Amino acid sequence: MRSGLAVAVAALVAVASAQNTCDLVASQTSIESYKRFEIQYTSEQTEYWSTSCGDLKPSCILMPTTAQEVAAIVSILGTNNESFAIKSGGHNPNNYFASIDGGPLISTKKLDQVILDPVAQTVRVGPGNRWDDVSAALDGSGYTAVGGRIGNVGVGGYMLGGGLSFMSTEYGWAANSVLEFELVLANASIVHVTESKYPDLFMALKGGGNNFGIVTSYLLQAYPQGDVWGGNLIFDATPEVTTAILAAVRDFTENYDDEKAGIIVTAERTLATLLDIWVIFLYYNGPEPPADVFDKFFAISKFKLNTCKTQSMNSLLSGNNWAVLKGSVYTIGTETMPLPNEANGAEVMQKIFDHWVNVSDTVKLVPGVVASVAFQPLPKKLAQVAKDKGGDMIDVDADIDRIVLELDYSFWPNGSYTEIDQTMQDTYSGFKTIVEDYQDSGLLPKDVYLPLFQNDCFYPQDYFGRLKPEKLALARRVQAEVDPKGFWKTRTGGFKIPSS
Ligand SMILES: Cc1cc2nc3c(=O)[nH]c(=O)nc-3n(C[C@H](O)[C@H](O)[C@H](O)COP(=O)(O)OP(=O)(O)OC[C@H]3O[C@@H](n4cnc5c(N)ncnc54)[C@H](O)[C@@H]3O)c2cc1C
Ligand SMILES: *[C@@H]1O[C@H](CO)[C@@H](O)[C@H](O)[C@H]1NC(C)=O
Ligand SMILES: *[C@@H]1O[C@H](CO)[C@@H](O)[C@H](O)[C@H]1NC(C)=O
Ligand SMILES: *[C@@H]1O[C@H](CO)[C@@H](O)[C@H](O)[C@H]1NC(C)=O
Ligand SMILES: *[C@@H]1O[C@H](CO)[C@@H](O)[C@H](O)[C@H]1NC(C)=O
Repeated sequence: MRSGLAVAVAALVAVASAQNTCDLVASQTSIESYKRFEIQYTSEQTEYWSTSCGDLKPSCILMPTTAQEVAAIVSILGTNNESFAIKSGGHNPNNYFASIDGGPLISTKKLDQVILDPVAQTVRVGPGNRWDDVSAALDGSGYTAVGGRIGNVGVGGYMLGGGLSFMSTEYGWAANSVLEFELVLANASIVHVTESKYPDLFMALKGGGNNFGIVTSYLLQAYPQGDVWGGNLIFDATPEVTTAILAAVRDFTENYDDEKAGIIVTAERTLATLLDIWVIFLYYNGPEPPADVFDKFFAISKFKLNTCKTQSMNSLLSGNNWAVLKGSVYTIGTETMPLPNEANGAEVMQKIFDHWVNVSDTVKLVPGVVASVAFQPLPKKLAQVAKDKGGDMIDVDADIDRIVLELDYSFWPNGSYTEIDQTMQDTYSGFKTIVEDYQDSGLLPKDVYLPLFQNDCFYPQDYFGRLKPEKLALARRVQAEVDPKGFWKTRTGGFKIPSS
């Protein structure tokens, strides 16, 4: 009796462990897998921007090298009910998006091809690359791909969120330059998704996140490119400097017609030391910018540092990696605002900035806390070129200029997460209220479409709910076609399509 029970229990345990993805992959395939406490496992776990993601412990890390191996993993996952995560560069700081506690992690790191075809002017890029890997591989070829502004960011997640690039005003969101997605579907089939073969799925992937499959390579349009010019300007954030920078970024967004120019304008507060600075990332597609493009920034006196120079794209993107500081928990959040006109610019921009200062002041006792806000121009020209290249889920209209506000709070103890979580939500919801109040009082244009930019969204933000209704409907329709059982929807983290 007793031994019968023991046998039954042993059999049950055997069945349960046979259902375990890590064991099944090990017994049925030759796919490389890192186990806990192995050096490679530990090393892979450091490759997250946020330590709170790297501290989650997957049951194993699977390292497929081909689309077929990814399909084999998906096929095995189809036989059980384990949660899993898909990771590219690990830059998305939302917990459980590209990280997991207990289930298998699929790392795309070894899907790392960068193959330029100069005749077709295309480049095939694996999702396991970071943007500095891509620019290094293309260095000296005379071609570039539209990608990240900081080299360390991964290709896989960045692309599926749309991708904002220094080249976006010239060529659109990064996703607008995808010609084909190689995709592993929920039923483990591998499809080559092009506009002509799968128009709806092709559209859905351009800003639809990880809801439709695992991308195993991107075929991208390559663009001719030589040396570029760029770097950083750093200022102490005195009130006078802040006023001038807010005016300069507003003016740049409205008035510059030179699509070869790109900027990110970031304010950063290290709250313990009361160090408040502005960091301006500048970029120009050419060896020197024309005299007037960045005038207003250079006219602001007393910058502490100016690293702008003529250099290769790879040198620029790698140089910007100084901004990737590891060792902290990170949170990211966003809101989109219509650009105020010149008359209302000073008031509206200052109010946004002051709200951020006020809210970030409330967490100054959190150990290691750093707050930043980035003003990222989304000019009409970007919207137009995105539409001209076939459009995407974000689908911004060229009717108004916009600014994408991006927020980060970083800090040391994960125990402070709940407090920072609330602070993050207070910061972006305050931005939204400020925008709505100014719309009511006539200082900002009303009845305009203000989508959230997925790559900068905090996990509770309703990315899909802020899309145009027709794009949300398309996402739901495509999901019903390619994932009728809700495999990606229920088994892995990320921004999910709300049910109708
Ligand atoms: C320092 C820094 C700078 C940044 N700069 C920019 C910028 O200039 N422009 C911009 O647009 N964004 C930028 N971002 C945001 C960034 O694009 C997002 O965080 C993006 O999600 C990171 O991509 P990743 O491949 O590193 O993501 P990961 O964290 O690896 O993955 C993010 C999400 O994508 C999914 N995913 C990843 N790969 C695949 C795949 N192959 N198939 C299916 N799903 C996949 C994951 O499951 C996860 O849900 C920046 C972020 C940081 C930290
Ligand atoms: C960090 O805190 C968040 C929020 O409480 C939690 O979801 C996450 O699991 C924590 N991470 C770790 C590694 O404990
Ligand atoms: C799979 O897991 C989900 C969530 O934990 C649960 O609701 C569901 O019943 C499980 N399905 C099976 C077949 O075990
Ligand atoms: C910020 O705080 C100051 C001081 O409390 C207050 O006067 C101001 O109105 C606040 N500004 C915003 C935008 O919340
Ligand atoms: C896999 O799913 C796709 C999309 O739903 C479908 O077209 C295809 O026929 C399926 N393949 C198999 C082998 O079931």
